[in-house]
Amino acid sequence: MSTAPTWVLGIESSCDEMAAAVVHRGARIASSCIHSQTEVHAPYGGVVPELASRDHIQAVHDVAQRALADAGIEAGDLDGIAVTAGPGLVGSLLVGLSFGKALAYRLGIPVVGVHHLSGHLASAELADESLRPPYIGLVVSGGHTALYRIEADGPPDCLGETRDDAVGEAFDKVAAVLGLPYPGGPAVAKLAEQGDDTAFAFPRPLLDRPGFDFSYSGLKTAVALAVERSEPLDDATRADLAASFEAAAIDVLVARTRRAVADSGLSHVAVVGGVAANRRLREVLAEAGERDGFTAVFPPMSLCTDNAAMIAAAGARLLARGEHHGFALNSFSRVPLGGAPWRTDVAPPAASPPGTIGSDG
Ligand code: KG4
Ligand code: ZN
Repeated sequence: MSTAPTWVLGIESSCDEMAAAVVHRGARIASSCIHSQTEVHAPYGGVVPELASRDHIQAVHDVAQRALADAGIEAGDLDGIAVTAGPGLVGSLLVGLSFGKALAYRLGIPVVGVHHLSGHLASAELADESLRPPYIGLVVSGGHTALYRIEADGPPDCLGETRDDAVGEAFDKVAAVLGLPYPGGPAVAKLAEQGDDTAFAFPRPLLDRPGFDFSYSGLKTAVALAVERSEPLDDATRADLAASFEAAAIDVLVARTRRAVADSGLSHVAVVGGVAANRRLREVLAEAGERDGFTAVFPPMSLCTDNAAMIAAAGARLLARGEHHGFALNSFSRVPLGGAPWRTDVAPPAASPPGTIGSDG
């Protein structure tokens, strides 16, 4: 097994966070900086892609500088750069990608494109050294809800995924109908703590069906109808609606995951993506693991939502295998986990020649 490069800078800009981080030997997070755009998008109740790209352009240089300074290194110490290449908002991705490529060119070091979900899975592997493939990966974010069998060699096997909305999207939409501020997931979870999770009997879509697919649009609609019927909403009813929704959403995730573990005979589940920050999911799945005999690995809260440490760690692994993606590296809005349309396997770049934009002279 080849050794991980000493210092890798990771850059993540697939949505509304500009993040940069430095990871040492693929395993230790030396710095992790995030510039959030919550205030930019809050008035619109969701991410406005053009505003996201514009904010990224302003932030990228400072965030990267801060990541290097916090790690106590200089750009010249870097051995490689890892950048999220997809899936995500193309305009947002291009900002991080172009910056990463320019810096790699200037420094004469390799640049690799990283799949955003490989990054999320790497966040669990960073958190727990005992988590090594093969294992079950539950990816739960604003854009994805899927179960994978992650293999040591070869592409991940998608066991099932959402047929409509992602679970994080359902949290965000329920937040909107309950009049909660953006971003919705954490707000719904907080309100749910004060509610009765049995007050409303919401559907658990596909719970008893075979297979591993998910569906969240019916649950979202059921909550919206219950809100309409309960209007005008008092505080206690809002909390009950939030708690009953959260219970239904999490029940389905846990039931499908238990089935995937039982079916595969594997001993570890990595739960990653923004919704992995949900306390109820963490508690209920940990209890299920104790009963069924599997270990549920959750990244620390700071690594659940989008960050660049996970991208640097996943990138370090690609670089250790000798992958270099070259300066034609592009961004992609939709890419299945395991896919890497940006992969060109070109030779490592030469240091920037004198007299070009890369030189000081
Ligand atoms: O992974 P992430 O930061 O971005 C994507 O790649 O989508 O995930 C963001 C999603 C949002 O839908 C957000 O509402 C949800 O994760 N989220 C939560 C919690 N924290 C974030 N959902 C439920 N409970 C939480 N505590
Ligand atoms: Zn994400």
